[in-house]
Amino acid sequence: MFIPEEIIEDVRSRSDIVEILSEYIILKKAGRNYKSLCPFHNEKTPSFMVSSEKQIFHCFGCGAGGNVFNFLMKMEGLTFFEAVKKLATRAGVKLPSPARNREFSREYKEKESLLKLNEYVADYYHRYLLELKNTGQTRTYLKKREISLDIIKKFKIGYAVKGNNLLRSTQQKGYSLELLKKGGLVSFYAESQRSRDYFQERLIFPIYSHQGQVIAFGGRVLSEDKKPKYLNSPETLLYNKSRNLYGLNIAAGAIRSRGQVIILEGYIDVLTSHQYGIENAVATLGTSLTQEHVHLLKRYTEEVLITYDADSPGISATLRGLDLLLDSGLRVKVVTLPSGKDPDDFLRENGKEAFIEILRKSLPLVEYRLNLAMANADIQTTEGKVYVAKEVLPSIARIRNAIEQREEIRKLSQSLHLDEESLLIELDKIKSRDSKPSGLDKVILKDTSGIEKAQRELVQLMLIDHDTIGQVKDELKPGDFNFLGLGVIVEEIFKLSSYTGDDFAVKIIDSLQNEHLSQVISQLILEDRKYIEKEKTVEGLIRTMKQYNLRQKYEKLEEEVKNMLDRNQQPSVKTLQEYKDLIQALKGSRRN
Ligand code: CTP
Ligand code: MN
Repeated sequence: MFIPEEIIEDVRSRSDIVEILSEYIILKKAGRNYKSLCPFHNEKTPSFMVSSEKQIFHCFGCGAGGNVFNFLMKMEGLTFFEAVKKLATRAGVKLPSPARNREFSREYKEKESLLKLNEYVADYYHRYLLELKNTGQTRTYLKKREISLDIIKKFKIGYAVKGNNLLRSTQQKGYSLELLKKGGLVSFYAESQRSRDYFQERLIFPIYSHQGQVIAFGGRVLSEDKKPKYLNSPETLLYNKSRNLYGLNIAAGAIRSRGQVIILEGYIDVLTSHQYGIENAVATLGTSLTQEHVHLLKRYTEEVLITYDADSPGISATLRGLDLLLDSGLRVKVVTLPSGKDPDDFLRENGKEAFIEILRKSLPLVEYRLNLAMANADIQTTEGKVYVAKEVLPSIARIRNAIEQREEIRKLSQSLHLDEESLLIELDKIKSRDSKPSGLDKVILKDTSGIEKAQRELVQLMLIDHDTIGQVKDELKPGDFNFLGLGVIVEEIFKLSSYTGDDFAVKIIDSLQNEHLSQVISQLILEDRKYIEKEKTVEGLIRTMKQYNLRQKYEKLEEEVKNMLDRNQQPSVKTLQEYKDLIQALKGSRRN
């Protein structure tokens, strides 16, 4: 769904942040701002600040921050669109009909039709299963798997028979063949010019979006000798498997109330967990966990439990993939199941209590990786130590909380009988390697030394004093800001620099549409730093950055030249000239 920018602005300007937030928390006036206990983490003294003037909030305890839309998204687990819609209703702003934009409107209509079709199809397969027209086979299978009727209804499980029944039924209902194809519900054979039902003789699991719309289907064979075991809808306008999790629509409430989500691997595992009363369980849809999944989950919880069969091949690589969860500040724990068992097998064989016991024994990801690496190495040897450190340090480097990070280093040093110092040095190397390509997700506003501090302050100045933007724009490029995703913010600031309204910062937040960056911006604004002699400060900071950039270039070239000389190659005249120029420039920049 598309909402034009003017409308978003209109809604925002009619939704006062202090007024809206007061419906959720108690705000007390504190100087120019308001203060409160943070609703997003537990605290005894308030570190949650709201600026009425800038229409921005920020928690200096947990880092949450942004504008009024971000607050509502986080508070109520809404998407941006849902938050805008909610505030629009409240403010009496009418959202435009989708017909305003032809392209969007076409896609929007198509999505709506697909949703309607999918809902019909889910009902169709489900009714079929409930009525069990296909006699004994399906019923026997479900009995064998011990899937209860309650669960069948809750997840709307269905059955697709052999033949083209769905095709006939939907066409009778007036759905076009074109739409059925787009929804991945029929296969089309070009030679014969015929279409067939895509799902046949399969148990059907409707896949829902987190908002509860049917967006795809998974189908399982009843007899193990048929292949493939699962057939899933192709990706469509509605469905992208990296962005959805099976069961999330049903598990959402339990995830929130327990403050934790359990991630399983398969449809049946989810069904069984829920049947056994473990209702905060979801499954990936045949992929590993992605960044998009993480963003989705972050709306619901801070803690993620992942189940793995400890002996499965490639476990170490799989775990490495989980580092992305640490990046986002989620607490990640790994649950180990006995070899060869998935949660479904385990629950049926050992029951709920045993499973809960296993969940309780889950280990934080870093610790888990440490144990795994230790088991695969001889740590009496140097190679062994190096191996373990290499396996574990990248995970530690991604822990957002500095105290937790330090604690993990301490543990690693004890396990390996190495001093913390050398581990910290290695850790720093990894960190600086990771932060060079300006990664959006590596937003850690802790280390404010040197160049990072300069970049940060310049962005801060541009956000609180509009006149600064021109001065910076003349001298630097967005790409020069290479810390913490600042470059992306600067790019947006430059792009919108002709706009001088009071809501400049909140506007930037909306156009970036990124939680981490919103938090960076809200923090920079609410830190409320006073700069005296702004213009001079800006000049100085620009100079620092330029000098740093020269230095970087110089070091890179120096390294290149050195490598060439090591290999007995002669650097080109051009390279040498560049080298000399850089040295000159560096000297010059230091003088003025
Ligand atoms: N999967 C898939 N296509 C396959 C096999 C698996 O998409 N051919 C996905 C499904 O989402 C499935 C998950 O991977 O749920 C896990 O697969 P697997 O462990 O083989 O199946 P289970 O879910 O355990 O199902 P069952 O217990 O019925 O074997
Ligand atoms: Mn299974």
